[in-house]
Amino acid sequence: MKKFIIAAMAMLIAAPMVSLASPESDLKKLQAHMFKKFPGVPLNEYGNGVYAIDKDRRVEWEAMEEFPPYEPAVDIGKKLFNKYKVAKCFPNKGIGIKQNYPMFKGGKVHTLEGDLMACLKKNGVDTKKEKLKYGKGKFAAIAAYMAYTSRGKKTNVKVPAGAATKIYNQGKRFFYAKRGQLNFSCADCHVYNPGVMLRTMKLSPALGQTSHFPVYRKKWQGGGGNPELSGLGTVQRRYGGCNKMVRAKPLKPKDGKQHPDYVALEYFHTYMSNGIAINAPGVRQ
Ligand code: HEC
Repeated sequence: MKKFIIAAMAMLIAAPMVSLASPESDLKKLQAHMFKKFPGVPLNEYGNGVYAIDKDRRVEWEAMEEFPPYEPAVDIGKKLFNKYKVAKCFPNKGIGIKQNYPMFKGGKVHTLEGDLMACLKKNGVDTKKEKLKYGKGKFAAIAAYMAYTSRGKKTNVKVPAGAATKIYNQGKRFFYAKRGQLNFSCADCHVYNPGVMLRTMKLSPALGQTSHFPVYRKKWQGGGGNPELSGLGTVQRRYGGCNKMVRAKPLKPKDGKQHPDYVALEYFHTYMSNGIAINAPGVRQ
């Protein structure tokens, strides 16, 4: 009986949250929240992360962009894209399509990177031997090249009613759930406290956070392997870093597939960047 009452109470609390909110209203709310917090910053600027809200850092960033450290990686990515015949697995031969991902198709959410890995396997590429792993290195370089061909196209993730909305809501719950020994949610840092300093880093707003991935980070540079690729990472590599920051375990891919919670998170998180132009790869601290 007691269990039943608790379950019923939980449903009472949870039901209105789920039934009232639609992806469209979630997006409008997040945009309104940020526009109030950072008056005068236009929507598309949020694709520049912390540089949209911090003048001093923006100057450093503009200097970095004069000799973009990700350029060699994009060139390498293009060569590998051709070598492994990636074009044949994707709509429009894989060019200019990043803005439509993650995409709900055939009952599942597909990330660009998930489909890329499936493509490599389908084409008979020995991913182990070729050292193609989710998240970084050569794999991230191919994803970076593909994203690069979408520059200027607005993020346009679709969440149809039904099964897709369920996965979207799973991602949304992940984003707002407290986790790790430090008990922080993604939202605690990137919705409620953007602009606040965390040690040496200033927190960026959740709006626009996906537009510039894969990203080239100074912090990731020099981790072994090809020095031109070591700074590169996908958005799910970044999720792992942010999970570690609060002492939660990053979710690893299993059996060649990305973790379903990260796929759901990427679906929700990218939807929150709808209307913001792809500007990948970006460069970050
Ligand atoms: C304790 C605070 C904290 C939490 C919790 C946190 N992050 Fe972060 N995150 C940071 C910091 C610090 C950075 C680097 C500065 C920046 O760009 O915000 C960052 C960066 C990012 C970036 C890269 C932004 C860019 O412009 O390149 C993404 C994406 C991101 N976080 C997503 C998430 C997600 C998703 C979660 C939840 C799983 C999360 N973060 C949880 C602190 C946090």
